[in-house]
Amino acid sequence: MNKSVNKDWIARSMASVWHPCTQMQHHEALPLVAISHGSGAWLYDHEGHRYLDAVSSWWVNLFGHANPRINAALKDQLDHLEHAMLAGFTHEPVVELSEQLSARTQGALGHAFYASDGASAVEIALKMSFHYWRNIGQTDKQEFVCLAGSYHGETVGALGVTDVALFTEAYGGMIRRAHVVRSPAAGVDEAAADALNQAVQAMRALFEQRAAHIAAVIVEPLVQCATGMAMYDPLYLKQLRALCDEFQVHLIADEIAVGCGRTGSFFACEQAQIWPDFMCLSKGISGGYLPLSLVMTTDTVYQAFYHSDIHRAFLHSHSYTGNPLACRAALATLAIFDEDRVIEKNKISADKLRKAMEPIAAHSAVRRIRQRGMIAAFDVEPAVAEGFSRRFFAEAQKQELLLRPIGHTVYWMPPYILSDEEISLLGERTLSVLNHVV
Ligand SMILES: Cc1ncc(COP(=O)(O)O)c(C=O)c1O
Repeated sequence: MNKSVNKDWIARSMASVWHPCTQMQHHEALPLVAISHGSGAWLYDHEGHRYLDAVSSWWVNLFGHANPRINAALKDQLDHLEHAMLAGFTHEPVVELSEQLSARTQGALGHAFYASDGASAVEIALKMSFHYWRNIGQTDKQEFVCLAGSYHGETVGALGVTDVALFTEAYGGMIRRAHVVRSPAAGVDEAAADALNQAVQAMRALFEQRAAHIAAVIVEPLVQCATGMAMYDPLYLKQLRALCDEFQVHLIADEIAVGCGRTGSFFACEQAQIWPDFMCLSKGISGGYLPLSLVMTTDTVYQAFYHSDIHRAFLHSHSYTGNPLACRAALATLAIFDEDRVIEKNKISADKLRKAMEPIAAHSAVRRIRQRGMIAAFDVEPAVAEGFSRRFFAEAQKQELLLRPIGHTVYWMPPYILSDEEISLLGERTLSVLNHVV
């Protein structure tokens, strides 16, 4: 290995690449990691150092890096069709993917509209809901509702339904803010059932006042990830669905992070036995390979746009909408779910993750260990010093882990293919990093 290669890439990246979600100056103290290749759950730099990707590279990777089955599908697709515009044209991968996803909702959400990143899917769901009410003559329904602590992406519309000050604060003047209603996720020292009931009551109170003006409520089903893996019971979704039906408000399920098996079922909403009016998917749907997002919706919504009048159509578009390579990666990903019975196997993996967390629970600074499917998290207290997250991230790197705490919340959201040895390593090293940092 050439020792200077990492340094060269880092210097060139610092000079030319503006990295996301980063104060670039912090890299003066903590250099970038220059990745040369990936294999399974591991990422490797140019000097042969390895990092266990315990956050699935921002929650996208499901079946490991350089997965042979997804690679083979993409190589085959490359020889046939890399891209064709989706307005006026169609192609096998996008049709098959739409059919297969519809089947996974038993046809309840039978129409798929495509984009690339998660935030674009959120924009689409918001616009579709807004436009639906206009198309059926309910032009007063123009407002949106999100939950306290919600995160739905960084574009301007998505920030309007996001309640994480770090991301919204600077753009206040640009953002059309949604109603923010209390979250069902319990706060510190709060009983889960009380938090849930109060959240339902708060939503009902808002609907009683404003439903005639509200187009949709958007939620992250079961786990509000970006606010710090705040988890809540499926019962909330069931009750929210009933409220939305009672007051004629759309329900948008943002399953961008929690879909594709992450919480224990393929769609998180399945655990509440409900379907939303709009479901946003991205991240894991392409196995973590290519930017792909989509919004699935009902016949009722689709039919409200189906008309001879162009103004009633949903004219939203992106150049790469329904990209065949991305759809093919998604088809290969769905095939792995079926062939390997992933949802069943993940129950065993989730149990192993839980056991690997047990020794961490004994640490005096660890609070609120929690888990839903393939997401496990804990908080570190008493209030840790400024920069905890970055110090933890840096020490984890030294111990061959890619872990990126959110504030004082440390979490695992690994690819589904971790071996027993890798799970043990993850548990032991996380504890070791914690001992070092706290
Ligand atoms: C729930 C949720 N919605 C939307 C997004 C935005 O997705 P993207 O980063 O692909 O725009 C994210 C990203 O983390 C997310 O967790």
